[in-house]
Amino acid sequence: MITEEDKDHIRRSWKLVIPIAETAADLFYKRLFELKPEYRPLFPDNLAGQKSKLVRMLAFIVKALDFPETAWKDDVAEAEDLLLVLLALGRRHDSLYRVPKEAYGSVGEALLWTLDYGLGEAFSPPVRAAWTAVYKAVSTTMILSVKAAEPDRSLDPALGAGQAAIDHRMNTLGMSEVKAAVNASPDPISKGAAR
Ligand code: HEM
Repeated sequence: MITEEDKDHIRRSWKLVIPIAETAADLFYKRLFELKPEYRPLFPDNLAGQKSKLVRMLAFIVKALDFPETAWKDDVAEAEDLLLVLLALGRRHDSLYRVPKEAYGSVGEALLWTLDYGLGEAFSPPVRAAWTAVYKAVSTTMILSVKAAEPDRSLDPALGAGQAAIDHRMNTLGMSEVKAAVNASPDPISKGAAR
């Protein structure tokens, strides 16, 4: 569950990350491969492109927090729909990049470590809690995408945070449209929608 206070903490701390984003991305991958050297071969030798894509995706996620609760009935352009983007991203991680589910824990740990190191005192306990809640919702949705894309299996309610988001969009769009959109793999990075 992401509260309005969490959103404020994320927005304010993200503003502090922007000027140090390049260094933060360097630190993030350094930390990840210290924690899990076995994940290094999943990535290309040159990480430069990957670093900027990750920062742009985080910026897109932070921006999406501005979507007002009251606008839930409104149409959202596919490339700006965080849920669809995350479902497609999750499928790519599973089917193209062969990322195991358990890797999401280590990536979350490396992300929180990086924010802690980069922000210092500004990374207070409530700020940490806010980033933890957002990472949990994002990673759960990505993992859930693998299930959502399977035509003959129902979604598993035990999956929690991502499930609530899926239910919300299913109510407004209908599951078949969600699946069609996931299969079309919207990509905010190459479409330049990430801000
Ligand atoms: C919330 C979690 C994550 C986010 C937001 C995220 C974000 C991204 C983004 C934006 C890309 C660029 C390519 C694309 O859009 O498909 C990417 C690629 C990739 N990610 Fe993630 N990722 C996450 C979790 C993970 C985890 C847990 C791993 C496992 C170590 C991982 C490994 C990779 C790999 C191997 C690539 C492809 C690199 C390449 O071949 O260029 N990611 N990720």
